[in-house]
Amino acid sequence: MATFAAPPADLHPSDNPGLDPRLGVAAAAFANSRHQMLIDGQFVASTSGKTFPVFNPANGEVICEVPEGDSQDVDKAVHAARRAFDSGPWHTMSPSGRGQLLWKLADLLEKHTDEFAELESLDNGKPVSVARVADVPLAVDLFRYMAGWATKTMGSTIPLSAGPDFLSYTVREPIGVVAQIIPWNFPLLMAAWKLGPALATGCTVVMKLAEQTPLTGLRLAQLITEAGFPNGVVNILTGFGEPCGAPLAAHDLVDKVAFTGSTEVGKLIAKAATGNLKKVTLELGGKSPAIIFPDADMDAAIAGAASAIFFNQGQCCCAGSRLFAHESVFDQVVEGMSSIAGKIKMGAGLDPLTECGPLVSEEQFDRVTGFLKSGREQGAKFGAGGGRHSDRGYFVQPTVLSEVRPGMKVVDEEIFGPVVVAQKFSTDADLDKLAMQANDTIYGLAASVWTKDLSAAHKMARRIKAGTVWINCHNVFDAALPFGGYKQSGWGREMGAEVLNNYTEVKAVTIKL
Ligand code: NAI
Ligand code: MG
Repeated sequence: MATFAAPPADLHPSDNPGLDPRLGVAAAAFANSRHQMLIDGQFVASTSGKTFPVFNPANGEVICEVPEGDSQDVDKAVHAARRAFDSGPWHTMSPSGRGQLLWKLADLLEKHTDEFAELESLDNGKPVSVARVADVPLAVDLFRYMAGWATKTMGSTIPLSAGPDFLSYTVREPIGVVAQIIPWNFPLLMAAWKLGPALATGCTVVMKLAEQTPLTGLRLAQLITEAGFPNGVVNILTGFGEPCGAPLAAHDLVDKVAFTGSTEVGKLIAKAATGNLKKVTLELGGKSPAIIFPDADMDAAIAGAASAIFFNQGQCCCAGSRLFAHESVFDQVVEGMSSIAGKIKMGAGLDPLTECGPLVSEEQFDRVTGFLKSGREQGAKFGAGGGRHSDRGYFVQPTVLSEVRPGMKVVDEEIFGPVVVAQKFSTDADLDKLAMQANDTIYGLAASVWTKDLSAAHKMARRIKAGTVWINCHNVFDAALPFGGYKQSGWGREMGAEVLNNYTEVKAVTIKL
């Protein structure tokens, strides 16, 4: 990997150009500390001794170095998780004991809300104001919600047609050792979405953090040990996809792999899992439609559609990245969204006034600006944005494109940046035709419908092929609501009661009386 010098260990936080002077004392101290992975309850360097740099996306400077885990570390972590599952104290811990640990972790995280929000903002680039009210509290809530499920993974009794001499019941058992590979767009929240249900059901975990954003996951690892989870129950690795993620997904002692990221890597994960036929769940890409009917509350719909795409710099798998507006309101919607886009305050995430931070990395910056170039070459009209903001950091302006059609890269592919493509639908398009347009994508993660006509809204909801449909809102999440994709957006669901099925096996027990 790139060779950047780590900041010396004794560097004062104020002398580290990768840090931000607005960081609080706790976040600055953690970011500046020596980082280690969590394996079998111990904080350790990588076996190879290698590290890699973590960048501040607002200025491109190195924040710190973290261990570069590889297959040797994966192997150690998987064996630790295996022992903890098969014979450690986790194996005999009561459901209520597991619930209490999860609740304690939630309390610890909540107590450190500001520190986590600042670290997330520093590492990912997102506005700290957003991390404080969304990422961190949603993660806390998820742990509490899952703590409640720890005592409620139940089976059922089943009457057999063979007659009354039989008694049959089912039990739900933890699936075993779980590999979890997460992305960088909501680093802490993705860790919580994955860890919560695995621990509630009694599994043990080896998690690989995203190489772009390891900081909140590493800090969470400290809270996990502070909460008192037994050694080996949660192991947290830092490293890159191929050298660290791939051997984890392929490991024979892993019973299940849960992945969130690109559809491309999702397919590799599915292949890697075939060796021992481990169970697989995937939460992948999207190109979600936001559909505005002519009778919608226009101010709310325009503001809502803008937030649907620009939230988190557009780096959301469920971003409302394809806008469909009725022809009678199309110009009003495009102008309204462009005007909002032009006023969004851009800056470093740690500036409390920032509404849109940088993209997460130089790679994502190049990817998104590549899409903008392609849109320009293929004839899209730019209502707002279209370029980089600032000559330092990975900022891309909120961008509204119209005069686009299927077949153009910006319409067909996931951009994963603050870029919306707007298409119109006509008066004679009935709901079936409109749904065909909305469903004309390999993805099926989410959609939003904006209208006052309840009947049309629910008819559209039925026609949309996606795991989530929002009506007169977008990006509404709750620990109790299942989330996941149809088609190439993935396999299985995160959150809600649904996710528990991903982490349990069902056993049918029958006795002849
Ligand atoms: P990615 O899919 O390569 O990375 C996600 C995670 O998978 C990271 O932890 C990475 O280290 C790991 N990984 C990469 N290659 C792997 C392999 N061969 N085996 C096992 N693990 C592997 O996504 P990337 O490159 O960061 O972003 C590319 C695009 O993916 C984005 O532009 C966006 O379109 C999409 N994406 C979707 C996300 C979602 O929430 N569904 C999140 C992040 C990215
Ligand atoms: Mg990748």
